[in-house]
Amino acid sequence: MTAGLTTPAYSRIIGLGEYRPARTLTNDDLCQTLDTSDAWIRQRTGIARRQLAALDESVISMASAASTKALADAGVDSARVGQVVLASCTMPQQIPGGAARVAESIGAIHAGAYDLNAACAGFGYALAAASDAVRVGSAEYVVVAASERLSDWIDWTDRSSAILFADGAGAVVVGPSATPGIGPLVSGSDGSASRLIELTEAGHLRLDGPAVFRWATTALGDIARRACDAAGVAPNQLAAFVPHQANLRIITAIARQLGATEAVIADDIVDAGNTSSASIPLALARLRREGKVAAGDRALTLAFGAGLTWAGTVVTVP
Ligand code: COA
Repeated sequence: MTAGLTTPAYSRIIGLGEYRPARTLTNDDLCQTLDTSDAWIRQRTGIARRQLAALDESVISMASAASTKALADAGVDSARVGQVVLASCTMPQQIPGGAARVAESIGAIHAGAYDLNAACAGFGYALAAASDAVRVGSAEYVVVAASERLSDWIDWTDRSSAILFADGAGAVVVGPSATPGIGPLVSGSDGSASRLIELTEAGHLRLDGPAVFRWATTALGDIARRACDAAGVAPNQLAAFVPHQANLRIITAIARQLGATEAVIADDIVDAGNTSSASIPLALARLRREGKVAAGDRALTLAFGAGLTWAGTVVTVP
């Protein structure tokens, strides 16, 4: 344990930050080069537009910008951050990882740092690791940044995937709490389905969209309910449902199966597309910015993606 820390009873999210690149790519823009239409993309995915990073907007710079905002939102001095976790599956190189450079960039001079790759589910796992680190006293504050530059890994001639993905970063600060603020993680994986979403040898994302769609709309309702059970929260007590933003039809199908009747359903995908691990913190930050959730509200996050991997947890909104 770090000297001087007392072990808190619980952990919670105490700050949120979002970074959205300035450049917007609309469905009509995509129609210039792909055999597709605005109506098809909206109807099949819910996406109307998405943000793409400029040359100088990297996984690390976007993660750093979102983390700096999350620290300001939390009112925490960066020198008190004990760990920085970078969830990403789109780092341009494997060695070195990016977390240490995010820590340096945000002034987290006493922080340990590591990268975590669980594809689109990465934020869920990183949040749970941060929560556990705070609860056992390994760190007083942990910055979790989820940052993706998917545009580097897209085959822009493949209409089945190029319409879906985008860039951006979201971050949270996790700190000690007297009351439960991050529920137990309900997680799982299915390596037998690893080929459903993968990088080709040419370095392009390839997916079996219909198979992923069927799996997500069949399996994830039960996982969402189990995450609520684990936190002792009934679905109709949720103020928000914030799933990974993969497809609006997947999101509404799971919400219906879950029976979260009072919850606002996050739909950041309409403006942001699928930003992989960044999509949940981006969607949660947006809901709070727009006044659709408030401090103390409970939200179910449900992350899922390549692997296959999934992870759900109920959090209290900061
Ligand atoms: N524009 C127009 N037509 C398109 C198209 C596009 N961008 N992409 C595919 N089509 C066509 C197909 O060729 C097919 O034509 P056909 O009927 O003549 O063969 C038809 O539209 C239906 O395609 P299908 O792939 O069955 O559509 P869908 O309703 O399943 O939607 C996805 C496709 C990709 C949007 C949807 O399956 C999805 O969102 N899947 C999950 C995405 C995912 O895996 N995300 C990453 C994991 S988090």
